[in-house]
Amino acid sequence: MDLSRRQILQGSGAALAAWALPYRPAAAAEVTLTPRPSRAALIGSGAPDTEVWAYNGKVPGPVLRFRQGERARIVVENRLPEPTTVHWHGLRLPNAMDGVPNLTQKPIEPGGRFVYEFDLPDAGTFWYHPHMRSAEQVERGLSGAFIVEERESTAVDRDVVWLLDDWRLTPEAAIAGDFGNPMDASHAGRLGNTVTINGRVPAEFRVRAGERVRLRLINASNARVMALAFEGHAPTVVAVDGHPVEPHAPEDGRIVLGPAMRADLVIDMTAAPDRPYPVVDSFYARGAYKLVDLVYEGGARSAQPRGAVAAMAGNPLPRPDLGRAARHRIELGGGMMDPQVMRAMREGGGREAVARMRERMRQGRIWTINGVAVLGHLHEPLLTLERGRSYVFEMRNDTAWHHPMHLHGMPFAVLSRNGAALPRRVVQDTVLMNPGERVEIAFVAEPVGDWMFHCHILEHQEAGMMGTVRVV
Ligand code: C2O
Ligand code: CU
Repeated sequence: MDLSRRQILQGSGAALAAWALPYRPAAAAEVTLTPRPSRAALIGSGAPDTEVWAYNGKVPGPVLRFRQGERARIVVENRLPEPTTVHWHGLRLPNAMDGVPNLTQKPIEPGGRFVYEFDLPDAGTFWYHPHMRSAEQVERGLSGAFIVEERESTAVDRDVVWLLDDWRLTPEAAIAGDFGNPMDASHAGRLGNTVTINGRVPAEFRVRAGERVRLRLINASNARVMALAFEGHAPTVVAVDGHPVEPHAPEDGRIVLGPAMRADLVIDMTAAPDRPYPVVDSFYARGAYKLVDLVYEGGARSAQPRGAVAAMAGNPLPRPDLGRAARHRIELGGGMMDPQVMRAMREGGGREAVARMRERMRQGRIWTINGVAVLGHLHEPLLTLERGRSYVFEMRNDTAWHHPMHLHGMPFAVLSRNGAALPRRVVQDTVLMNPGERVEIAFVAEPVGDWMFHCHILEHQEAGMMGTVRVV
């Protein structure tokens, strides 16, 4: 695979026409990723550049595009001042290729290299990022989109990736150095003050009247949950976390994406082209902001409403057998305003509970899964599962905070929320759990290996909300 060509092809409108040309990569499409210190014009318009860590010197890293059924070969050459790994978020692959330091591979030392190679059974929108000191490495700019083209995809005029990232910048546009501090770690994680689309604070996104756009949203933030509404437009959700869903309008018109989550939308640009249309993120009630404006490039309003959006074929995932599934309880705990501590206070045992909480926090063990706070990637597995067997996790968020829970290697069906079945089948690799919420997920355990299961608010992950599921 020719990387320079790839870089030219990423993102823009011109790209689609180019990669739609007959272009057949060799059996294993190869790319090189070089994480290294670099500079990025995040804000642009005269603001100083930001010192970042970046794959191939670009924030975000290059869009890696493959085709379903291809074999990817990715050579990672570490030019960072510290060890790293690359995790291919949401992909089904052999455990040894999963990029978890000390668990599935040795960290890639500065100057070292590691070759990742795996088949791509599933199409969809995925992404890649380090799994080493993630709260800092990801925040410094290491992330990129990983797109696997369907054999047959829904027909659109343009295919666009928006990798969304939230940064905490100083007034000089430098990345604030307070990574993983206890305040962030015990509350909502590191919320920033600057949100970028593909590494830039955007002023506008240009569209053409009447065109149909596939928009691949990736939330690469450490901690920011987003709820996006497209004023004047009616997006159709066609895939969640890469996996096709029955095309539908988002509930209450907003697309909710916790960190690491993705959504593929189809949007028809059929509004009156005479004014800008803001895209607004209103997840945090008091912190709504305009992400970008959709701006029509002249032309008349298209008279032709487009037809219904066609569903895409699902990925060849094993289907869990719910009748025979073994069930496990997963309980999330800890953090500020810990409901367990609150209950103890009401029942008179508050003093001990608070002392225990303080001690846990002092050790950086702020969050727990089934009562255990895990630091680092090597530890006793939370659960041991049998390969090929179906499992249901009954998860409960017994904390006062949101947690996007991510299971490596095994995409799962989300069955219910607070006991209510979902309106349609949806397969995810990361599920956002609201405070106090119960969520059931189901999956088939495979392949063999130790797979991480953690909160994708990276400050929570590093402060204990992490575990391993072993498949034998
Ligand atoms: Cu994207 Cu273990 O994570
Ligand atoms: Cu969390």
